[in-house]
This record gives sequence, structure tokens and C-alpha cells, in this order.
Amino acid sequence: MEIRVQQGNITQTAADAVIVNLFEGVTQPGGATGALDARIGGLIRRLIAAGEFKGRLNETAVLHVGEGFPFRKVVVVGLGKSSEFDAERVRQVSATAAQTAAKGNVKTIATIVHGAGIGGLDVFTAAQSVAEGTLLGLYRYDKYKSKKDNGDGHPGTPEQVLIVEMDGGKLDTIRAGVQRGVILAEATNWARDLVNAPGNELTPSELARRAEAMAREEGLECTILGREEMERLGMGALLGVAKGSAQEPKLVVLRYNGGGDAAPVALVGKGVTFDTGGISLKPREGMAEMTSDMAGAAAVLGAIKAIARLKPRQNVIAVAPCVENMPSGTAYKPGDILRAMTGKTIEIDNTDAEGRLILADAVAYAESLGAHTIVDVATLTGACVIALGHIYTGLVSNDDGLAEAIMAAGRKAGERFCRLPADPEYKEQYKSDVADIKNTGGRPAGAITGALIISEFIDKARWAHLDIAGTATAQKARHYLVKGATGVAVRTLAEFVCSL
Ligand code: BES
Ligand code: ZN
Ligand code: MN
Repeated sequence: MEIRVQQGNITQTAADAVIVNLFEGVTQPGGATGALDARIGGLIRRLIAAGEFKGRLNETAVLHVGEGFPFRKVVVVGLGKSSEFDAERVRQVSATAAQTAAKGNVKTIATIVHGAGIGGLDVFTAAQSVAEGTLLGLYRYDKYKSKKDNGDGHPGTPEQVLIVEMDGGKLDTIRAGVQRGVILAEATNWARDLVNAPGNELTPSELARRAEAMAREEGLECTILGREEMERLGMGALLGVAKGSAQEPKLVVLRYNGGGDAAPVALVGKGVTFDTGGISLKPREGMAEMTSDMAGAAAVLGAIKAIARLKPRQNVIAVAPCVENMPSGTAYKPGDILRAMTGKTIEIDNTDAEGRLILADAVAYAESLGAHTIVDVATLTGACVIALGHIYTGLVSNDDGLAEAIMAAGRKAGERFCRLPADPEYKEQYKSDVADIKNTGGRPAGAITGALIISEFIDKARWAHLDIAGTATAQKARHYLVKGATGVAVRTLAEFVCSL
């Protein structure tokens, strides 16, 4: 699908569907919506007067117009209260309107820039948010559907979205904003494809191949370590998890060099391509969801893809330890003791607490590459889902400035983070009688102890951990979060790096 910005009047734009908007409570639409309403004989005003459309956030109305118009239908989307309007709402309504407009056999959609005239947003942000919301909202995972179907019997997604603006003076700013939105949304959708891919397709080797192909396309440096290199580096924690699987583990390392000789920021993502729990086998119900246990890896790879295109003056490395966690005759077992790359030993209490083990070696490796800041991203704990549900990502950090910078980036991206405490008393929960630490801290504060175990393998770098167990996938579609993988943290991490 292609997004194009063009100067023109929405009332004269040739498209299958055109999108206009309305703030809540407005009875006499103005601007582009008013002009379109006049052109179609006041149908929008009649809809409002009849009480059938109030302009509530994400409310939609579809008007089919007869012969003599360059478009077949008009979609009106509600922007909600003008006092509550912001970039996130532009993303949401752009997605909702595009999804509504795309129903039926639709090839071209035209939209105005929500909030570029009214609403008080700057034009760049409004344009970025329209592009972002539209592309995120029209995302579909239909690779394995023999008949491509957008849910209503018609194939696929529209071919073209036209963003139409009358005022020629705004066009350059709109083009620049749209470009940024496209970069962020395409990187997110790329990550979504990885997360939605089934475990038989996306093995550690395949994940590494996809990362390598993306790196080549975006001009990133790429190194992939296999089992032998990891053995040489002493990555006993990562290798321990991989032992039960017939699939070779891979450590993907991508680099973006935009900052001269400055030390890099490291983004480290959990890449468990399928998590059975290993010998501490998970219950059968819901196990299939564990195809998304590599969403952290997808997030950091997607983020560095966006970063490669946004070109901030920073050095960034993305590190993704990729393994499959399986039970077998060669699998690691409860009671085993693993030695991590740093030399620290770990008593295995539960083989299902594998994410922290692969991340232990991955963050240590990132620090050995000189990283001054390490952000890890992982579908780490069920405890985080219990604590925060599917709305907030858990954030644990040893640095207030870093935590605040990530939350600020999240506010820009429309992703929510809730910081959890990390006082040193929690560390007592994972003391071991026989090794330096154990790999679990028991049920209380499971999201916090899981995070702190990762931090045990970082020496001096400032660190933050994002637990996306609850936010990596959406159980139910809402606006631009279609059902399935959300691509969470891609946009926040890209914004975060750009803010440094
Ligand atoms: N991948 C899971 C965490 C998870 C749970 C992600 C639900 C998404 C949805 C992780 O590897 C895991 O199994 N964690 C254990 C840790 C425990 C054994 C300390 C958990 O949360 O139960
Ligand atoms: Zn896992
Ligand atoms: Mn697990």
C-alpha cells in the first residue's frame, strides 16, 4: 500500500472513499468537513440533526453518495471532545476511519489531515499521526490465508491512501510528517509480522535470516553468532536454554552508526521463538500463545530498522538472543547450575524462567561492546500481565533519568509504561544455597525479581527493562491495535533514541 500527499480539495478528489471528521458536539461542520457536507447537499448535517452521529471518539458514519461525485462513499469519523484532542487520538481515528473506509471493494481512500487546521496540534505531528494510524490500522496478517479477505469477503487492503490538503503552504510539513509516520508504522508492521509468524516458520535461524535481510536493506551492520562462537564467549546461560532444542541458537547483533566514536545505546530483546516451558512444561491451555515469546527481539529489530531510516546522531546496537525452549533428553533441568558469560553461576529452579537466562548473556555481551545504556525488552513474566493487564508495559530501571526518558518517548508514541519499584530487598528472593543466584524469585513481585535477575549481569551501564508480556499481543482489536501482534515498543524505542 502506498501513501501519497497531494494538494487539492477533498470535495473534488477521485477516490472510492473519502474521510472527513467531526468534533463531538459540533452541529454545523466547518473546514473541509463543512465544504464536503455542502457538496453532498448537507447529508452530514442531517445525520447530526437526526441524532445519529455525535462525533464521539472513533464513532463512524458511512454515507453512500449517488452518481455525479468523484467518490462513492464518505466516511465521517468522530474526533471526540476538542479539549481532549491529541496526537494519539489522531492515530486512533485515522485507523478507525481507514478500516471503515476499506470495507467492500476499495482501492483508493482519500483523507484530510485530522487536526491540521483545528484541534491545536502542530501540522507535522498531525500528519505523522495520520500516516502512522492509517498504516497500523490497515495491517493484516494473512500470509497463511488461501483467500485474502479483509473480513467482509473482499480481498486485501486498499492500494492507495491519498492525504489531501488545500493549503499549499502546509504541504512540505505534511510530507515530512507523513514520512516519519510511515517509517515508524512500517517498522512496527515488520515487527508484527515476525511476532505473528508461527513457531515452525520462525525458528532462531529464520529470525536471524530475517534480521540479516533487513539489515542489508537498511544499511545496518550485522553479525550473527552461532553455537560455537557463544561457547567460546562462555555464554552458558543462553546455551543452557537452547540445549533441549534441535534448533541452533543465534545471537543477532545489528549496528547503526550515526554518532561517530560515541559509546552505543544497546537495545536487547528476548527472542524465544517458542516457549514450551522446557522440562518445567507449561500447561496445554494457551501454550500456542508462546509463538509470540520473541516479541522483544522483534521490537528491538523493528526499532533499529526505524532508527536506520530516521538517522539520529547516535550509535545504536540491537542484540537479540534467539532460542527455542524445549523439553527433551538433552534439555537443561531444574537443579542444573549454569555459568553465564560474566562468570556468575545460576541455579535453575524452573526451566520456564528462560527469558532472563538468555538476556543475562545478551546484556553482558552488549556491555562488552561498550554500551553505556542498555534497554532490554521481553515477554518476561505472567506476573506482569497479572499486575498491569494488557494496557501498560512494565518498566524496571536503576536510573530515574532513563526511566523518565522512556516514559516520555512512550507518551509521544502513544504507548504506556508503568514503572515498578526495584529496591534491593527484592534480591533476597532469588538467593541460592549452591550458586550465586537462582533463576526465579518465587511468586511475590515476580515481574520485579525477573527484571532484577537480568540486571545482575550488567556491571556499570544504566539499565531499563520493559516487560511486554501483556502488551505484545492484543486479544481484541481496538483502533490501530488489530488483533494479534501489536509491535509494542518499536515506536517508543525509536523515539527514545531520537530524544537522546
Ligand atoms: N514467556 C513467559 C512469560 C509470559 C507469560 C509471556 C504469559 C506472555 C504471556 C516466560 O518465559 C515465563 O514462562 N515466565 C514464568 C516465570 C516463572 C517460572 C518465574 C512465568 O511468568 O510464569
Ligand atoms: Zn518465555
Ligand atoms: Mn518461559
